[in-house]
Parts: sequence; structure tokens; C-alpha cells
Amino acid sequence: MSEVPLANWNGEEMPLDQARVSVLDRAFLFGDAVYEALRIYEGRAWLCREHMDRFRRSLLEMRIETDVDRLERRMQETISHSGARDGLVYLQVTRGEAARNHAFPDPASVPNELIYVKKYAGDPHLELRAGGCKVITFPDIRWGRRDIKSCNLLGNCFAAQAAAQADCQEAILIAQNGEITEGSHSNVFGVKDGKLLTSPLGNHILPGITRNLVVSLAQRAQIPVVEHPLTRENLDMVDELFLTGTTVEVLPISQVDGKPVGSGHSGAVTDLLFRTYQQAVREWLDREDN
Ligand code: PDD
Repeated sequence: MSEVPLANWNGEEMPLDQARVSVLDRAFLFGDAVYEALRIYEGRAWLCREHMDRFRRSLLEMRIETDVDRLERRMQETISHSGARDGLVYLQVTRGEAARNHAFPDPASVPNELIYVKKYAGDPHLELRAGGCKVITFPDIRWGRRDIKSCNLLGNCFAAQAAAQADCQEAILIAQNGEITEGSHSNVFGVKDGKLLTSPLGNHILPGITRNLVVSLAQRAQIPVVEHPLTRENLDMVDELFLTGTTVEVLPISQVDGKPVGSGHSGAVTDLLFRTYQQAVREWLDREDN
């Protein structure tokens, strides 16, 4: 059995399976909460400032008030106490407990704050790195503010479940107009004639921290980036497709709905970007050591 993650629940450290929440918590009743997930490399939280900035923005958009600096300190402490070298740290802030009414409680309820650290025994996607992962397409049936990293994830869960049932690792979401928005828990990139294509930012996708890093790494490597949506039809024409995200990092896609993408293996641009990503992590770790 895998080790129970170390949690910090409202300032108190405990094993994750011992943390308890009231049924009146609005995250339980309405999914009324925001979250972040950060990758840990060598005991350190990667792209911490970027994640905390997005967390602040999500909280502001949701009108949940909490002290993100305090949470960040608590997160660093939990990582250190967990002893994790490689892993994932999850943060969630709910609107707190109140009688069940759709409108926000007035006066505001006290947020409930969860942090936990999941340890990885190496790269969880190692087996898929060379051959790529399989994905399905699935209708994007989510709400209109996907730029907020909220815990209201039912549309994402439906899509991920359909992918799992099809023995695939991810679902690529297609909006009603045929445009690809993102994955159920990742962003999506295509490569066509040496150019990178991905959906522009907006309310329809999460501004992925890895997406943003990959865009700047590509620009530095002189790979043109076109922030224009791919469509379901384009998928048959792209040379390469890949996912980005905190957990998948940069992961090639080998098949969409049972059909091979490009050569059917990881492409040259995807490989280059994954290597560049790893190099960026290495350089950051070396800088932190100094
Ligand atoms: N998922 N789009 C969606 C819908 C996501 O849930 C995620 C991340 C991403 C990629 O964002 P980032 O690069 O900042 O991780 C895009 C996290 C890992 C999760 O839900 O566990």
C-alpha cells in the first residue's frame, strides 16, 4: 500500500486520511472552492510564484478571502516535514461552512484550508514518455469560467472517466463550435510545419502554468508559437500533438480516438520541448543550490 500523504488541515498537521470536513462546507455542497497543484522536484515546489499568483487570482475571482502568503509558508513547511523529494503538493481553500443557500454567506464564512503532499517514486508518466499517450475527444460541457481553478470539476470528471473507459490517458475537450479547448486536466498543443499551435488564453481554458512555460521555452528555441485554436478536423492534419500540465509535464500524444497522430510516435518538436523543460528544471535546482 502507498504511504498516506501528509496533510495540513487549517494549520494542523495530520495524515491526509484523518482530516475531516463538515457536510455544511460549501465545497461539499456546491464545489465552492479553489485549488492549486504544484510539482515538487528535489524537495522544492516548482514554479511556486506563478502558481501562487494564479491561486490569488482564482480566490479574488471567487471572492474568497485568505492569506496566500501564509498558505505558501504552510505549504513549504508541509513539503519539508513530509520529506518528499519528488511529488505533488495540493492546496485547496473552500468558502467554509454555512447553512445551505446558493448565495454566498453574509457575513462571510471562514475558509477551510487543506494542503497535502503526495510523494512520487520517480516520474509517474515514464512509461508513456517515448511511445506517447492515447486520448479521446469529448464534448466540453463545462461552465463558462474555466480560467478559474475551481473545484467544480464535474465536466472534467465525465471526460476523464470516458477516457479511462476507452483505455486512454486523457480526453481532449471540444467546444460546440468544434474548437479544442484543453484536456480534462492538461492543456493541448499541436505542431504543424514546425509551428506550435495552442488555444489562446481566455475564459474557456485554464491558463496552465506549464502551458505558459512551454510557450516561452518554444519562443526561446525559435519555434514559432501561434495562439490559435485547433479544431477537431485539424487533428487529422497535425504532425505532432502533446499535453502540458503539472503532472504530465510535456507528454506526447500517439493516438486520438484510435487513430495515430503524425508518425504515431513522439515527434521531434515534442521531444525537444520536453528536454528543454527538463533543462529548465535542472537550471532552477542548480540556482537554488547556490
Ligand atoms: N490540472 N487544464 C486543466 C483543466 C487542468 O486541470 C490543468 C492542471 C491544466 C494544466 O495546468 P498546469 O500546467 O498549471 O498544471 C490545464 C492539475 C494538475 C490537476 O487538476 O490535478
